[in-house]
Amino acid sequence: MVKIAASILNADFGNLGQEIKRAEEAGAQLLHLDIMDGHFVPNLTLGPQVVKSLRPQTRLSFEAHLMVTNPEKFSGPFIEAGSDLILFHLEVIPKPEKLLEEIKARGVKAGLVLNPDTPAETILPYLDALDQVLVMSVNPGFGGQEFIVGALDKISMLDAERRKRGLSFEIEVDGGVNPKTGALCRKAGADILVVGTYLFRAKDIKEAIKSLQM
Ligand code: DX5
Ligand code: ZN
Repeated sequence: MVKIAASILNADFGNLGQEIKRAEEAGAQLLHLDIMDGHFVPNLTLGPQVVKSLRPQTRLSFEAHLMVTNPEKFSGPFIEAGSDLILFHLEVIPKPEKLLEEIKARGVKAGLVLNPDTPAETILPYLDALDQVLVMSVNPGFGGQEFIVGALDKISMLDAERRKRGLSFEIEVDGGVNPKTGALCRKAGADILVVGTYLFRAKDIKEAIKSLQM
Protein backbone atom coordinates (compact mmCIF):
# COMPACT_ATOMS: atom_id res chain seq x y z
CA MET A 1 0.00 0.00 0.00
CA VAL A 2 1.37 3.45 -0.86
CA LYS A 3 2.48 5.53 2.14
CA ILE A 4 1.17 9.05 2.74
CA ALA A 5 3.55 11.82 3.86
CA ALA A 6 1.45 14.74 5.12
CA SER A 7 3.01 18.07 4.09
CA ILE A 8 2.18 20.81 6.61
CA LEU A 9 3.05 23.69 4.26
CA ASN A 10 -0.63 24.47 3.65
CA ALA A 11 -1.83 23.41 7.10
CA ASP A 12 -2.89 25.99 9.69
CA PHE A 13 0.49 27.21 10.99
CA GLY A 14 -1.32 28.76 13.95
CA ASN A 15 -2.32 25.28 15.14
CA LEU A 16 0.47 23.06 13.89
CA GLY A 17 0.26 20.63 16.80
CA GLN A 18 -3.43 19.94 16.19
CA GLU A 19 -2.96 19.78 12.43
CA ILE A 20 -0.26 17.12 12.85
CA LYS A 21 -2.51 15.14 15.21
CA ARG A 22 -5.29 15.33 12.61
CA ALA A 23 -3.01 13.89 9.94
CA GLU A 24 -1.72 11.17 12.29
CA GLU A 25 -5.22 10.10 13.40
CA ALA A 26 -6.38 10.11 9.78
CA GLY A 27 -3.73 7.52 8.89
CA ALA A 28 -0.72 9.41 7.45
CA GLN A 29 2.52 7.48 7.98
CA LEU A 30 5.03 10.34 7.66
CA LEU A 31 5.21 14.05 8.37
CA HIS A 32 6.77 15.99 5.49
CA LEU A 33 8.44 19.17 6.76
CA ASP A 34 9.07 21.73 4.01
CA ILE A 35 12.14 23.70 5.09
CA MET A 36 12.65 26.78 2.91
CA ASP A 37 15.41 29.42 3.23
CA GLY A 38 14.13 32.16 0.88
CA HIS A 39 17.22 31.66 -1.36
CA PHE A 40 16.87 28.27 -3.03
CA VAL A 41 13.12 28.92 -3.21
CA PRO A 42 11.24 32.24 -2.91
CA ASN A 43 9.62 31.33 0.42
CA LEU A 44 10.65 31.05 4.08
CA THR A 45 9.12 28.47 6.43
CA LEU A 46 10.28 26.77 9.62
CA GLY A 47 13.62 26.19 11.35
CA PRO A 48 15.02 23.45 13.61
CA GLN A 49 13.52 25.08 16.74
CA VAL A 50 9.98 24.62 15.44
CA VAL A 51 10.68 21.02 14.37
CA LYS A 52 12.12 20.30 17.85
CA SER A 53 8.91 21.58 19.46
CA LEU A 54 6.76 19.43 17.14
CA ARG A 55 8.79 16.27 17.72
CA PRO A 56 7.23 15.19 21.08
CA GLN A 57 3.69 15.86 19.82
CA THR A 58 3.47 12.93 17.40
CA ARG A 59 4.80 9.46 16.67
CA LEU A 60 4.88 10.18 12.93
CA SER A 61 8.28 9.76 11.28
CA PHE A 62 9.74 13.19 10.36
CA GLU A 63 11.18 13.77 6.89
CA ALA A 64 12.88 17.14 6.43
CA HIS A 65 12.69 18.36 2.83
CA LEU A 66 15.57 20.88 2.77
CA MET A 67 14.88 23.49 0.10
CA VAL A 68 18.00 25.43 1.11
CA THR A 69 21.18 26.50 -0.71
CA ASN A 70 23.46 24.97 1.94
CA PRO A 71 22.00 21.68 3.22
CA GLU A 72 25.44 20.70 4.58
CA LYS A 73 24.92 23.49 7.16
CA PHE A 74 21.35 22.55 8.06
CA SER A 75 21.22 18.76 8.01
CA GLY A 76 22.83 18.55 11.48
CA PRO A 77 20.41 20.92 13.25
CA PHE A 78 17.39 19.18 11.69
CA ILE A 79 18.74 15.79 12.73
CA GLU A 80 19.19 17.09 16.29
CA ALA A 81 15.62 18.47 16.10
CA GLY A 82 14.36 14.92 15.56
CA SER A 83 14.28 14.21 11.81
CA ASP A 84 14.32 10.56 10.76
CA LEU A 85 15.13 11.35 7.14
CA ILE A 86 16.92 14.25 5.46
CA LEU A 87 16.09 15.07 1.84
CA PHE A 88 18.25 17.62 0.02
CA HIS A 89 18.34 18.88 -3.58
CA LEU A 90 20.86 17.51 -6.08
CA GLU A 91 20.74 20.94 -7.78
CA VAL A 92 22.66 22.55 -4.88
CA ILE A 93 25.18 19.75 -4.20
CA PRO A 94 26.32 18.20 -7.49
CA LYS A 95 28.67 15.91 -5.50
CA PRO A 96 26.32 14.67 -2.73
CA GLU A 97 28.24 11.54 -1.62
CA LYS A 98 29.95 13.18 1.37
CA LEU A 99 26.79 14.73 2.84
CA LEU A 100 24.81 11.53 2.24
CA GLU A 101 27.43 9.55 4.19
CA GLU A 102 27.51 12.14 7.01
CA ILE A 103 23.73 11.94 7.42
CA LYS A 104 23.65 8.14 7.42
CA ALA A 105 26.61 7.97 9.82
CA ARG A 106 24.28 9.65 12.35
CA GLY A 107 21.75 6.83 12.00
CA VAL A 108 19.36 8.96 9.92
CA LYS A 109 18.05 8.07 6.47
CA ALA A 110 19.21 10.17 3.50
CA GLY A 111 17.55 11.05 0.20
CA LEU A 112 18.03 13.27 -2.82
CA VAL A 113 15.42 15.51 -4.43
CA LEU A 114 15.02 16.18 -8.17
CA ASN A 115 13.34 19.37 -9.39
CA PRO A 116 11.02 19.09 -12.41
CA ASP A 117 13.72 20.43 -14.79
CA THR A 118 16.47 18.14 -13.49
CA PRO A 119 16.80 14.97 -15.61
CA ALA A 120 16.54 11.66 -13.72
CA GLU A 121 19.87 10.61 -15.32
CA THR A 122 21.73 13.01 -13.00
CA ILE A 123 20.81 10.97 -9.94
CA LEU A 124 21.74 7.52 -11.33
CA PRO A 125 25.35 7.53 -10.03
CA TYR A 126 24.12 8.00 -6.44
CA LEU A 127 21.16 5.59 -6.27
CA ASP A 128 22.96 2.90 -4.30
CA ALA A 129 23.76 5.40 -1.54
CA LEU A 130 20.11 6.51 -1.14
CA ASP A 131 17.30 5.46 1.14
CA GLN A 132 14.83 7.59 -0.84
CA VAL A 133 14.46 9.65 -4.01
CA LEU A 134 11.99 12.55 -3.97
CA VAL A 135 10.67 13.45 -7.41
CA MET A 136 9.22 17.00 -7.44
CA SER A 137 6.00 17.29 -9.44
CA VAL A 138 5.87 21.05 -8.84
CA ASN A 139 8.55 23.73 -8.79
CA PRO A 140 9.38 23.96 -5.08
CA GLY A 141 8.31 26.91 -2.94
CA PHE A 142 4.57 26.70 -2.45
CA GLY A 143 1.76 24.25 -1.83
CA GLY A 144 -1.42 24.09 -3.92
CA GLN A 145 0.27 24.08 -7.34
CA GLU A 146 -0.67 22.03 -10.43
CA PHE A 147 0.89 18.54 -10.83
CA ILE A 148 3.60 18.45 -13.57
CA VAL A 149 2.99 15.21 -15.53
CA GLY A 150 6.67 14.95 -16.55
CA ALA A 151 7.26 13.56 -13.05
CA LEU A 152 5.60 10.28 -14.09
CA ASP A 153 8.31 9.32 -16.59
CA LYS A 154 10.97 10.01 -13.97
CA ILE A 155 9.19 7.79 -11.46
CA SER A 156 8.92 4.89 -13.92
CA MET A 157 12.53 5.32 -15.03
CA LEU A 158 13.73 5.22 -11.40
CA ASP A 159 11.50 2.22 -10.69
CA ALA A 160 12.95 0.35 -13.70
CA GLU A 161 16.49 1.27 -12.63
CA ARG A 162 16.03 0.01 -9.06
CA ARG A 163 14.60 -3.31 -10.35
CA LYS A 164 17.48 -3.66 -12.82
CA ARG A 165 20.10 -2.98 -10.11
CA GLY A 166 18.27 -4.75 -7.28
CA LEU A 167 18.23 -1.59 -5.16
CA SER A 168 15.73 -0.86 -2.40
CA PHE A 169 15.50 2.97 -2.21
CA GLU A 170 11.93 4.28 -1.96
CA ILE A 171 10.43 6.58 -4.60
CA GLU A 172 8.45 9.54 -3.29
CA VAL A 173 6.60 12.24 -5.25
CA ASP A 174 5.80 15.73 -4.04
CA GLY A 175 3.50 18.46 -5.30
CA GLY A 176 -0.05 18.64 -6.65
CA VAL A 177 -0.86 15.12 -5.47
CA ASN A 178 -4.55 14.18 -5.24
CA PRO A 179 -6.45 10.90 -5.87
CA LYS A 180 -6.15 11.30 -9.67
CA THR A 181 -2.48 12.27 -9.89
CA GLY A 182 -1.67 9.98 -6.96
CA ALA A 183 -3.07 6.96 -8.81
CA LEU A 184 -0.85 7.78 -11.83
CA CYS A 185 2.20 8.07 -9.51
CA ARG A 186 1.42 4.72 -7.86
CA LYS A 187 1.06 3.08 -11.26
CA ALA A 188 4.43 4.54 -12.33
CA GLY A 189 6.10 3.01 -9.26
CA ALA A 190 5.90 5.57 -6.45
CA ASP A 191 5.95 4.19 -2.88
CA ILE A 192 5.24 7.42 -0.98
CA LEU A 193 2.95 10.32 -1.85
CA VAL A 194 3.58 13.74 -0.28
CA VAL A 195 0.21 15.41 0.08
CA GLY A 196 -0.42 18.89 1.47
CA THR A 197 -3.33 20.94 0.20
CA TYR A 198 -5.53 18.00 -0.77
CA LEU A 199 -5.27 16.66 2.80
CA PHE A 200 -5.46 19.78 4.95
CA ARG A 201 -8.20 21.43 2.85
CA ALA A 202 -10.32 18.26 2.72
CA LYS A 203 -13.72 18.19 4.47
CA ASP A 204 -12.86 14.75 5.81
CA ILE A 205 -9.08 14.18 6.10
CA LYS A 206 -9.59 10.45 6.87
CA GLU A 207 -11.60 9.96 3.64
CA ALA A 208 -8.98 12.01 1.82
CA ILE A 209 -6.21 9.61 2.91
CA LYS A 210 -8.33 6.57 2.00
CA SER A 211 -9.00 8.06 -1.47
CA LEU A 212 -5.23 8.30 -2.07
CA GLN A 213 -4.64 4.66 -1.20
CA MET A 214 -7.43 3.13 -3.33
C1 DX5 B 1 6.51 22.46 -2.31
C2 DX5 B 1 6.67 21.43 -1.23
C3 DX5 B 1 5.60 20.39 -1.27
C4 DX5 B 1 4.20 20.98 -1.20
C5 DX5 B 1 3.17 19.91 -1.40
O1 DX5 B 1 7.71 23.17 -2.43
O2 DX5 B 1 7.90 20.75 -1.35
O3 DX5 B 1 5.79 19.49 -0.17
O4 DX5 B 1 4.03 21.58 0.06
O5 DX5 B 1 1.95 20.52 -1.21
P1 DX5 B 1 0.71 20.29 -2.18
O6 DX5 B 1 0.29 18.85 -1.90
O7 DX5 B 1 -0.25 21.31 -1.69
O8 DX5 B 1 1.16 20.49 -3.59
ZN1 ZN C 1 8.18 19.06 0.04
